[in-house]
Amino acid sequence: MAGLNKVSVDDINVKGKKVLVRCDFNVPLKDGVITNDNRITAALPTIKKLVADGGKVVLCSHLGKPKNGPEDKFSLAPVAKRLAELLPTTVVFAKDDTVVGENAKKAVAEMKDGEVVLLENTRFRGNDETKNGEGFSKELADLVDNEVFVMDAFGSAHRAHASTAGVTKFVKETAVGYLMQKEITYLGNAVENPVRPFVAILGGAKVADKLNVISNLLEKCDTLIIGG
Ligand code: 3PG
Repeated sequence: MAGLNKVSVDDINVKGKKVLVRCDFNVPLKDGVITNDNRITAALPTIKKLVADGGKVVLCSHLGKPKNGPEDKFSLAPVAKRLAELLPTTVVFAKDDTVVGENAKKAVAEMKDGEVVLLENTRFRGNDETKNGEGFSKELADLVDNEVFVMDAFGSAHRAHASTAGVTKFVKETAVGYLMQKEITYLGNAVENPVRPFVAILGGAKVADKLNVISNLLEKCDTLIIGG
């Protein structure tokens, strides 16, 4: 894609290979039911491409902020169910409190080309994930025989965690997915080559995380509107 200086899923050949894909499946849930599946549908183009190309597609994500290790209410099981409804292939949920333990290994070992496995919430590993632990990064890479890592979690790309950053050190090939590609291209153009007057509207929660974004945008835009 023009303007994107990154290896993308269009540049790699995943046929017969195990591919770990970091998605952002941090979806809103109410009583175990997904109330908005936008983040799941946004990840589909990359997943479908890798499935169509004959990769063994192992998905991972965080969900919420579990405090003390595994908690049922933060399980990715509902996401696996939704993915199975949306994808034209087998989707297996690797229920595994350690994310990459025996259940996950078994599920990955049994995959056929073009099938999908979803791992359990990476934040069930606590600091191993959020402090970018080398051990967990390596375990994630080992699960896919150190073959391919695809980063498509745009909403989590600002976090240097094991499943977003650390894992890249241990795989042979790394690429960005279509969602990352699209967001980088649109956002990059909008911010670097703005049509003036340049008005930015910033929404969402987590104000503390946005302070850096606000400072940065204030230097570039003419007007900044902040909403809830
Ligand atoms: C989000 O919802 O903003 C992203 O998924 C990142 O989540 P986090 O703030 O818990 O890292």
